[in-house]
Amino acid sequence: MSEKHRAYFNEKAVIWDQMMEHKPHEKLQEIFGTLEFESGSTVLDVGTGTGVMLPLLKEIVGPSGKIIAFDLAEEMLSLAKMKNGEENIDYIQGDITVSPFKDNTFDVLICNSCFPHFLDQAASASEMARILKPGGRVIICHLSSREELNAMHRSLGGVVGNDLLPDKNEMMFMFEQAGFNVINIDDLDDRYILTASISI
Ligand SMILES: C[S@@+](CC[C@H](N)C(=O)[O-])C[C@H]1O[C@@H](n2cnc3c(N)ncnc32)[C@H](O)[C@@H]1O
Repeated sequence: MSEKHRAYFNEKAVIWDQMMEHKPHEKLQEIFGTLEFESGSTVLDVGTGTGVMLPLLKEIVGPSGKIIAFDLAEEMLSLAKMKNGEENIDYIQGDITVSPFKDNTFDVLICNSCFPHFLDQAASASEMARILKPGGRVIICHLSSREELNAMHRSLGGVVGNDLLPDKNEMMFMFEQAGFNVINIDDLDDRYILTASISI
């Protein structure tokens, strides 16, 4: 577990929503609206932070679905819980590279704005493959291009200064090695979306 990252995100938790105020939530709605989730799905929101994705995920999975909000930083999770309550949502603290979940647990994994922060990205991809059900899918999403995102992290420096999104070939290789197939990466000016599935 990255204690430095845990401390960093715990410290940022109270100001996180103010820092992100400019982020267009309509864009997340638009992106996730096209990704064809099924209601009733069991979804893991990896690196949930203050739970920015939770209202949207609740809407998508509906009352018969289940969401697990998962994060390294307990202060982030406390805020997520305070804002979103516990109906259909469980809150669990941990590291996605060594998660506490059983094999074949989730239909969908969401990683919004968090993949670059995972210290061992290849281990996180393998862990995601292990905990997804056959036919399950991971969605890695950022509201900027890879180039812009990496430049932003480099400019922040410190704990997150080297938290970078690898290039397309490296990501493809990493997810293939982890056991995913049908891997698709869209790296556009205003969004980065990787979707990858586990075969049935
Ligand atoms: C940039 S924030 C994004 C939060 C949220 N997904 C959003 O879109 O606002 C990244 C989050 O990932 C969490 N995180 C970092 N490394 C992690 C890991 N190895 N396992 C689980 N969560 C992690 C951090 O604690 C932080 O809350």
